[in-house]
Amino acid sequence: MTKNDVVDPMALRNALGCFTTGVTVVTTCNDGVDAGVTVNSFNSVSLDPPMVLWSLAKSAGSFNTYHTADHFAVHILAADQEPISQRFATRGIDKFAEVDFHRGVGGVPILDGCSAVFHCKTVYRYEGGDHEIYVGHVEKLEHFDRKALVFHGGKYALAVPKKKPEALVDDVRSRGFSANSLTYLMGLVYFQLMKRASTELKKRGITETEMAVLNILAIEDKRTAAEIDSLVQVSGYRVDDAVLRAMAEKKLLSLTDDDGVLRSTLQDAGRELQLEQLAFIQALEDDALPDEAYAETVLAKDLLKATARKLLQAE
Ligand SMILES: Cc1cc2nc3c(=O)[nH]c(=O)nc-3n(C[C@H](O)[C@H](O)[C@H](O)COP(=O)(O)O)c2cc1C
Repeated sequence: MTKNDVVDPMALRNALGCFTTGVTVVTTCNDGVDAGVTVNSFNSVSLDPPMVLWSLAKSAGSFNTYHTADHFAVHILAADQEPISQRFATRGIDKFAEVDFHRGVGGVPILDGCSAVFHCKTVYRYEGGDHEIYVGHVEKLEHFDRKALVFHGGKYALAVPKKKPEALVDDVRSRGFSANSLTYLMGLVYFQLMKRASTELKKRGITETEMAVLNILAIEDKRTAAEIDSLVQVSGYRVDDAVLRAMAEKKLLSLTDDDGVLRSTLQDAGRELQLEQLAFIQALEDDALPDEAYAETVLAKDLLKATARKLLQAE
């Protein structure tokens, strides 16, 4: 085949990048040698008989291992397995060193935590330019209820199902909220979660402001009331020496006089309370989120972080 002078390889790569794929790791074991590569050239071929394909660069370090292997396994990576994808796309490392796996059909290493695994017998190999194409007969499959990792435009992505708009708004609107306003929606969720969190704080005998102080001191001790105040006021709390003194009485922190300025240091009781409350809030959020909302949660947090950054820059 002649070299193509018309299609620029970079332009080809970029254009192919707009075809969204999942991410897989293909593993094999040949003559006692384990190999694994990150692959997004995977695709289905046939349902009956069950067949799949993928292609491997002839320049891959593990090319000889796959070229003569009888079996391979395709792992569809789950949304939280980006580190696994990066590991198996890195040349020259012991890819299986810190990874949990067991053996599957043909003794092939099978990685834990994926969305699906296809155990295959290699049935065809095709010439494919700078790649070799492998077609496998699926001998066994495993399918788990985990959302898949996505690759688009050269970046990892998350798949979020498009929801019917009416399903999203009806519930919220019926309670008199403007379902299209981020402010109202955030307010509703924040108020409902904080109501529960505050009840827990009251049980523990501290206020929301005191909890905000504990959070700041957990990051760095020896702060003054003014320093803590400037950090917490973005969330609407205000802190002065009286707040710190009340907390010192509860043995949550200790105070030292630094040339007339009070500096606070977290005590064991304060540290313990802060960790317990954080765990409580995490459990509250986990319970409140709809099931299977991993991708949406990551995206919502990213959106709120970017919004917070923009608002704080504008202050
Ligand atoms: C998302 C993603 C998809 C990839 N898809 C393929 C592929 O389909 N075929 C391929 O040969 N390499 C692919 N690679 C690159 C290989 O994973 C990488 O070059 C790997 O280290 C090659 O294996 P080696 O360590 O045996 O050289 C991909 C990398 C990433 C990050």
